[in-house]
Amino acid sequence: MRPLIAGNWKMHGLKAHLGEIRAIAAAARASPPQADILICPPATLIDRAVEAAGGVIAIGGQDCHGKITGAFTGDISAQMLKDDGAQAVIVGHSERRKTYGDTDTRVAAKATAAARAGLMAITCVGESKSVRDAGHALAFCAAQVIASVPPTLTSTTCAIAYEPLWAVGADEAASPADIIEMHAHIRATLIGHLGAEGRSVRLLYGGSVTAVNAAQILALPEVNGALVGRDSLAASDFEAIVAAANPLAMKKTVRT
Ligand code: PGA
Repeated sequence: MRPLIAGNWKMHGLKAHLGEIRAIAAAARASPPQADILICPPATLIDRAVEAAGGVIAIGGQDCHGKITGAFTGDISAQMLKDDGAQAVIVGHSERRKTYGDTDTRVAAKATAAARAGLMAITCVGESKSVRDAGHALAFCAAQVIASVPPTLTSTTCAIAYEPLWAVGADEAASPADIIEMHAHIRATLIGHLGAEGRSVRLLYGGSVTAVNAAQILALPEVNGALVGRDSLAASDFEAIVAAANPLAMKKTVRT
């Protein structure tokens, strides 16, 4: 399975930062990466980011509405992202779930809208510290996957990002043991939920992935890429994470 390294710029980035995308694209052109690269800048930059990416890296949105059009002041539809040149969109990020009240049902509607518009929906799941401490992390995330991922999605229209809330924007990523356990559980859940298609849905880890820890995390079983926040903002950090993706290490995680 070809890994996917996705950058989530969150609410960072002005026109001046498009140079980072140009630099990542230039590096990818000079030395073709062994991973798919996606950058999700703020929606205001998508059009220009697509141009800066020069077809070498994909550009995506950070959220979309569940409807195609309508009286939803301030919102952006999946179709609008697609029209701007986006190829993917993040849905159900913990910051959207927490701050804007995105429920699993709403996230599923967004994922469906994304797929209909021809975008890959990167659906985020992840437990809070209190849920983990209570011993319910696996069940919690499996329930989120089942309720947030419409069963009609395929490995082309869907990727999952496991982002434990306590590791997002934190000092440290989740431990390899926690990632291995959770990714195996999410993989089994996906197979139960989507059938054979669930075997080839890419399963990303997110939460304090850095240039330093990326190689270790990306080599873990059932880790098919990363969703990166802070270390996606500067081309040099992000390029190092892309370089850490080794498809040979990931091949052995594909179930037959
Ligand atoms: P982080 O963010 O890499 O800064 O922890 C990840 C995310 O929120 O997607």
